[in-house]
Amino acid sequence: MKKIAVFASGNGTNAENITRYFSDHHSLHIDSIWTNNPSAGVIQRMANYDCPVLLFTRREMQEGVLLEKLQSRAIDGIVLAGFLLLIPPSLVTAFPRQILNIHPALLPKYGGKGMYGSRVHEAVYAEGDKETGITIHYVDKYYDEGAVIFQVKVALDHQEVPERIAQKVHELEFEHYPKVIEQIFSSHV
Ligand code: GAR
Repeated sequence: MKKIAVFASGNGTNAENITRYFSDHHSLHIDSIWTNNPSAGVIQRMANYDCPVLLFTRREMQEGVLLEKLQSRAIDGIVLAGFLLLIPPSLVTAFPRQILNIHPALLPKYGGKGMYGSRVHEAVYAEGDKETGITIHYVDKYYDEGAVIFQVKVALDHQEVPERIAQKVHELEFEHYPKVIEQIFSSHV
């Protein structure tokens, strides 16, 4: 059984969806949810699940304490689900091609530092784009630059406000992220 850690900084709807999807899975287990944000919605959201939510600081992540904690739980892979801090090189090296991220747009558009959540949808709206989508990619030491694994688009019309764009993107995330996680981690030996 592969043990997966999910990192989330915010509301945690993806973390919850992923936990549900793998609740009775034959080869992947969501071991724990990790957050750097003591007031993140994900903490309350996950209170009714049999899955611990563990808090860590940016400093613990940068200084290797987080890596030790992950190793002590024998974590095999990490899934970022609305996680906003940059993953340090030490963690990327310790989990080669075993950290996935989801980005709520069609990278390389609307990526990079400071582009997350509603800011992305507001930018898509401001540009008047006719489509948006999601990108699932491996994590390297830069924001939103690792190799792309999966993208899917959704059409937009000019009347769709950022909140509606966010809703459409979340629907794509809920549908596809668990399946891509399953495919990637099930294929690792
Ligand atoms: C998701 O849409 C995710 O793609 C995005 O944050 C949202 C988190 O929602 N991630 C980024 O913007 C990363 N750059 P959630 O907390 O409800 O899952």
